[in-house]
Amino acid sequence: MTSPLEQLGMIALRRMDPEAAHGFALKALQMGLGPKGGPFTTPRLATTVAGLALPNPVGLAAGFDKNATALAPLARCGFGFVEVGAATPRSQAGNPKPRLFRLTEDRAAINRFGFNNDGKEAITARLARRPKGGVLGLNLGANKDSADRSKDFAKVLVACGPHLDFATVNVSSPNTEALRDLQGKTALAALLEGVMEANATLSRPIPIFLKIAPDLSDLELADVADVATKGGLSAIIATNTTLSRDGLKSPHAGEKGGLSGAPLFEKSTRVLARLAGLTDLPLIGVGGISSAEEAYAKFLAGASAVQLYTALVYGGISLVDEITRGLDRLLARNGYANVADAVGKGRETWT
Ligand SMILES: Cc1cc2nc3c(=O)[nH]c(=O)nc-3n(C[C@H](O)[C@H](O)[C@H](O)COP(=O)(O)O)c2cc1C
Repeated sequence: MTSPLEQLGMIALRRMDPEAAHGFALKALQMGLGPKGGPFTTPRLATTVAGLALPNPVGLAAGFDKNATALAPLARCGFGFVEVGAATPRSQAGNPKPRLFRLTEDRAAINRFGFNNDGKEAITARLARRPKGGVLGLNLGANKDSADRSKDFAKVLVACGPHLDFATVNVSSPNTEALRDLQGKTALAALLEGVMEANATLSRPIPIFLKIAPDLSDLELADVADVATKGGLSAIIATNTTLSRDGLKSPHAGEKGGLSGAPLFEKSTRVLARLAGLTDLPLIGVGGISSAEEAYAKFLAGASAVQLYTALVYGGISLVDEITRGLDRLLARNGYANVADAVGKGRETWT
């Protein structure tokens, strides 16, 4: 349940410029104003994905804490796992402002941040002071002006990897020109080979995930699944934001960038279900989750864990606990002893 204080905070935040509001929300968390209970867990929710033991399978998606400045507060917010970043080798400012838009009528957001972040050195220093316990991952990105973007992912991994439980190769952001071209079969295979070689140099290699766009064709999806499986990856995250603008009502619908939130739910869930038919790798479902029912639908479609971001803008941070507890009830009601038993049980609905 949202507390009256959180409700007031949400009203104030929604009146501010979206990027400023995001900065405030992060500050509030850093000041200790967020939840403190830690992740809700039951034997039904506890699961292992890609070798990572999760107290519950509801995670924070990349982009919320790009610079890893709220690791300890986020660990107490109820997420079963947290992904921070994206981090690039060198710090960069990202695209000119405004670059984040609230599409209130659509319960959605459009962002064109373009990997604004403090760079791998600053982020490594913060990761080194991470709280003990919890499952923490980093989204790996590439510098806009890099001479060889494909090498950037490995550079960030080598620097930050010793402090992480997993890392995600993000070649699916629509906000760095031509980044998505790295999802092509040949380019992706070479990129992943470099990342896996870098991972092998760590004293403790970590599971590497790949995050994909929801705008891939069936053929492209099959290629990605094939390359990821052969490349030795541990999971695929489906999906990042979309370039599609179908059915939007908000005046900001025409803004350039990636669309997230409610309108992405169906599209990303279809991609997830198709992917589940193409690979045995565990899948992490993300895109438009704002309720326990939607989280549950992602598991039935083939996800072994889920992540969310945009719904927090509209529902507040207490939504995490609400979704996790609701998911536990839905699993119980449908006769599942563990969330892993529900994975893919309703895939045909989405393919
Ligand atoms: C403001 C914003 C910034 C984001 N930054 C990143 C990022 O740096 N790396 C990434 O892989 N995804 C990023 N994403 C995408 C989210 O991680 C997620 O895949 C997408 O928003 C769909 O989930 P949602 O509908 O629950 O928000 C960002 C999303 C938003 C809204």
